[in-house]
Amino acid sequence: MKRKKMMLLSMVVFSLVVFTGIIFVKTGIVESQTMPFGTNEDVEYSKRLWQVLVKEKLVGPNAIQTLPYEGKPPHGVVLETLVSTVTVNGNTGPAYVKANYGGKDITRSKVANNRQKYLKSVTVMYKREKGYDSDNQDWYWVKYTPDGGLHKNPKGMRLAGRVAKGKKKGCIACHIMAEGDDYLYQNDAAQLDQE
Ligand code: HEC
Repeated sequence: MKRKKMMLLSMVVFSLVVFTGIIFVKTGIVESQTMPFGTNEDVEYSKRLWQVLVKEKLVGPNAIQTLPYEGKPPHGVVLETLVSTVTVNGNTGPAYVKANYGGKDITRSKVANNRQKYLKSVTVMYKREKGYDSDNQDWYWVKYTPDGGLHKNPKGMRLAGRVAKGKKKGCIACHIMAEGDDYLYQNDAAQLDQE
């Protein structure tokens, strides 16, 4: 009798373990399929894109230099934006590349005289192949560290891909509010026609 009870108990425990195991594995799979950014694929793409941007002199020590301008949060106090059309893995599209400078007592002239010292991040919007993200005009978003690595959000997710699709905060949520339904701020009246 005792033995039977033991067997029953171990069967219950066993099936519970298996069941939770299945749930864990399943959610893991679903998550990796639906995670809109920060996946290994997004990271690989960010590396490829960085190589192209270096080659095109849009980032890195040999990047084309423009006159830094004063920015607004969240991007930084002093900024520099370059725009060009680049080809990545066979896709040709516009790339908006923004160097974000910060630091103690920062000024535009200090940045212009020592960019590397003040460079905090490089944020890029790149228009990918049709269907990449039909909901958001196929933009690929990435926040690089100055050497081409990736910044992470507070949850530790790497900021590359469809950042942060479906969330209330992040690149997409904010850029969707730009005038002209193009996700771009720099051509808005608020940027260009202010006193
Ligand atoms: C809370 C709002 C907000 C968030 C979040 C945000 N941006 Fe922006 N972004 C702006 C504004 C405003 C500008 C224009 C002014 C400036 O350059 O600071 C801009 C400009 C840019 C530009 C230059 C092209 C343009 O739209 O004018 C790029 C590229 C860019 N952001 C990339 C990103 C990326 C990548 C992320 C996420 C990692 C991000 N942004 C998150 C508000 C935001």
